[in-house]
Amino acid sequence: MMPDSPSENPFMTGPSTATPSRFEHVPLAVFQSSAEASQAVARDIAALIRSKQAEGRTAVLGLATGSTPLSLYAELVRLHREEGLSFKNVATFNLDEYYPIQPGHPRSYRHFMQAHLFDHVDIEAGNTHVPDGSAPLASVDAHCREYERQIEAAGGIDFQVLGIGRTGHIGFNEPGSARRSRTRRVTLDPLTRRDASGDFGGEENTPRHAITMGVRTILDARRIVLLAWGQHKAEIVRTAAEGPVTPQVTASFLQEHDNVHFVVDRAAAGALTRYRTPWLIGALADQVRS
Ligand code: F6R
Repeated sequence: MMPDSPSENPFMTGPSTATPSRFEHVPLAVFQSSAEASQAVARDIAALIRSKQAEGRTAVLGLATGSTPLSLYAELVRLHREEGLSFKNVATFNLDEYYPIQPGHPRSYRHFMQAHLFDHVDIEAGNTHVPDGSAPLASVDAHCREYERQIEAAGGIDFQVLGIGRTGHIGFNEPGSARRSRTRRVTLDPLTRRDASGDFGGEENTPRHAITMGVRTILDARRIVLLAWGQHKAEIVRTAAEGPVTPQVTASFLQEHDNVHFVVDRAAAGALTRYRTPWLIGALADQVRS
């Protein structure tokens, strides 16, 4: 259940007590497995929901789709079924949706959310929001502005869950997206389409566009947790956590948020300097120098 060491888990324990001798520019907790990490994140989300309940207020969650949050949603469903966690006071805003796509399409993100979370908990249908991939092209901009307005009307996002794409995208903010970007229709990067092509039965059937919250929309969240599992995410996790802040890797903008945590499994942490070249940091580096 614990990450590599308690001191490496700023995620659950508030301000980091970890040694500052790291190359990472964000608090980053490494768990042995994605299941353990997901349980820890789910516990934090449950605590938020319950504390808002106690105040008679709504917890506003920003949610991601894709393979990464599956274990998190499974754990939230378990907490609902087995530990009485209610979602009656929860409102959700999803990061993105393919465009164009019908909400009922088996690969739509609306369908994904129903199948993996919404249909299994007691959330009010009207409190769940996913950008509408079936909005006519002529009204997409108005739909995006309305999405931003709804987030604001809900009081802003309390807790934003993110995955990371191999292009470094958060939401579908592909390389080049501006820090000030808001919800809008975007063109997907070829690598993102290739990664999604398995779901759509080939690249030719994979949507070329999407509607996504912007970088600014995401950074406005009061708390952000980025999840990453597996060796195939290791390089981009290192780039986002240790590299410069650049629109070429939109996840790097998270370094500028004051309440963000990266939560990764051991495989996704594998390219971090503290694992790949540990002699460059901390006590080992001191030994090398002396
Ligand atoms: C999905 C989203 C994307 C994914 C990212 C990782 O709503 O916003 O940024 O989080 O593409 O996808 P997976 O988890 O499938 O590796």
